[in-house]
Amino acid sequence: MLRVLACVSGGGTNLQAMIDAITQGTVRNAQIVGVICNNKNAYALERARNAGIDAICISPKEYADRETFHREFLETVNMKKPDLIVLAGFLVVLPEEMIRTYQNRIINIHPSLIPAFCGKGFYGLKVHEEALKRGVKVTGATVHFVDEGTDTGPIILQKAVAVEADDTPEALQKRVMEQAEWKLLPQAIDLIANGKVKIEDGRVWIKA
Ligand code: GRF
Repeated sequence: MLRVLACVSGGGTNLQAMIDAITQGTVRNAQIVGVICNNKNAYALERARNAGIDAICISPKEYADRETFHREFLETVNMKKPDLIVLAGFLVVLPEEMIRTYQNRIINIHPSLIPAFCGKGFYGLKVHEEALKRGVKVTGATVHFVDEGTDTGPIILQKAVAVEADDTPEALQKRVMEQAEWKLLPQAIDLIANGKVKIEDGRVWIKA
């Protein structure tokens, strides 16, 4: 059983998709051993508790400085002994030590087709606003491993979603979530949990 730790900040719909996929058996050989959230008011915490998953709230605001927060955060992560850390809408920059310790064991979901509309400052609605501004006809979502950069790690899965003529950022965000994110993230976890993902020279290969 792959021990999955989810890190969340907001509504937690991606977390819910993971929980549901595990319950329904579309994700095999994985269990969510904990949820870490930086925002005590996030609905994601409720979703975790409803599913009987240990949910921990740890916010940078409660610590004197970043260093102390990072130390506490990493200790909390380590306590869960995760095989895989899933950033499911997590808005906190990870401690570098954590990225080194968990190399190739942290994945993130990003709501665009990387390398479009990604990097510093591209999160939440901003990603979709920029996609609409640029006039792209196709956008989507990407699941990738996390490295030291912002959205630069090896790409595991991508799914395209059509942009409609009358889209607002909110409408596009919703379609990308429904058609891409909620499917891709469970699928990536299933592939990893079942030994299907191999990284070679910074690129991911999916075994048949
Ligand atoms: C998603 O759009 C995800 O791609 C982004 O943050 C959002 C999180 O939504 N990184 P939710 O909390 O899973 O509902």
